[in-house]
Amino acid sequence: MADLRNNFVGIKSPNPFWLASAPPTDKAYNVERAFKAGWGGVVWKTLGEEGPPVVNVNGPRYGAIWGADRRLLGLNNIELITDRDLYTNLREMKQVKMNWPDRALIASIMVPCEENAWKAILPLVEETSADGIELNFGCPHGMSERGMGAAVGQVPEYIEMVVRWCKQYTRMPVITKLTPNIADIRKPARAAKAGGTDAVSLINTINSITSVNLDTFSPEPSINGKGSHGGYCGPAVKPIALNMVAEIARDPETYGLPISGIGGITTWRDAAEFMVLGAGNVQVCTAAMTYGFKIVQEMITGLSNWMDTKGHRTLDDICGRAVPNVSDWQYLNLNYIAKARIDQDACIQCGRCHIACEDTSHQAITQFVDGKRHFEVMEDECVGCNLCVNVCPVQDCITMVGLEPGTLDERTGKVVDANYANWTTHPNNPMARQAAE
Ligand SMILES: Cc1cc2nc3c(=O)[nH]c(=O)nc-3n(C[C@H](O)[C@H](O)[C@H](O)COP(=O)(O)O)c2cc1C
Ligand code: SF4
Ligand code: SF4
Repeated sequence: MADLRNNFVGIKSPNPFWLASAPPTDKAYNVERAFKAGWGGVVWKTLGEEGPPVVNVNGPRYGAIWGADRRLLGLNNIELITDRDLYTNLREMKQVKMNWPDRALIASIMVPCEENAWKAILPLVEETSADGIELNFGCPHGMSERGMGAAVGQVPEYIEMVVRWCKQYTRMPVITKLTPNIADIRKPARAAKAGGTDAVSLINTINSITSVNLDTFSPEPSINGKGSHGGYCGPAVKPIALNMVAEIARDPETYGLPISGIGGITTWRDAAEFMVLGAGNVQVCTAAMTYGFKIVQEMITGLSNWMDTKGHRTLDDICGRAVPNVSDWQYLNLNYIAKARIDQDACIQCGRCHIACEDTSHQAITQFVDGKRHFEVMEDECVGCNLCVNVCPVQDCITMVGLEPGTLDERTGKVVDANYANWTTHPNNPMARQAAE
């Protein structure tokens, strides 16, 4: 059976599934049950500085979007960091770590961007025997207006400075949690590395308004008729998170920097995708909030079964395996030719592929053949865009088939070339033309 034990910057856990800093990790009562359910680690709900805790709104704090089956696809929240007393949290963390020595317990921290504030809280956290700290530079609402969270995470110089303080004032491993609300995720990651971080984690939530009530004209969630932008997470953000993880994993300046992958992870497959794109482990929030702590069991079994089937023995065998296959567009093989193919036995003749291709792609799917409703790909028109695959309601009914080198592409009248050729040398590329002249 595959070995799922995880060693992330020296922090050991029995599996790579951690709960992200959020309501599921808000208190000992939750974390104890999460560990019983099988989670390998938790990042405790973000701690603030000593003194009166922050105050949350006393009304709805979530907005959402759903799929047609009412499955939750995206969740938005306007919650702040922990609203419980610092010392209550620290006491509970210490007790939980004592009860569960084999699980990872990380303290998420957000205090003002002042050296003394970090210097003051780090020994208190260290006292709990926490395995590491995560710097919350990501929260995009409420705290950022007070100069913390994403307000720090959007300025690489601040990130570097705070990470440096933390490395100076604690022996615990430092994980820097990044905000996705930034144009180029590589910049904060590079800054965190320059400050000496042991790892980065990402993504925190994305600035968003999920919906507006058209009777009251108030954004949701509505507090007495007014709404505020919140942080978006859940399955809808996974593609954004995957790309950001891959950007950092393949950036020569941060190559090899450990990454904890976060964003929309709901199944073992999501987790595996993050890991092959360079994440050393993963963190989960929305899926646990939607389906409960026991979803980790599907994650553990699923990942383990897949690894067994494919002959991967340890997590090191899979981490980063897809990174070399992430390329800039200009290096994609322009000699690769694919065509859509419809499985007539599976087709339910709904006509979606025809409409999509007819109205917005290349008019390459029939609607009628010999006066009968029949959907078939005309290879002499198909550019292989795979829009039809994505709109077809029947899984695997339409597949993309690569043409063998040496065969004729009926659309262009050219024989498929076995050689790799990309845009950098293509005759239509003005830069390539200039270089050749
Ligand atoms: C209600 C809620 C509260 C959150 N609070 C925190 C927090 O205190 N600190 C933090 O670093 N991230 C916080 N997050 C962000 C999550 O840790 C995580 O980065 C984000 O939700 C993306 O993961 P997901 O798609 O699995 O939910 C919160 C998320 C939610 C939904
Ligand atoms: S792959 Fe694109 S062009 Fe080809 S049939 Fe499908 S939608 Fe039309
Ligand atoms: S979308 Fe799929 S099921 Fe519908 S007609 Fe096209 S191939 Fe058939």
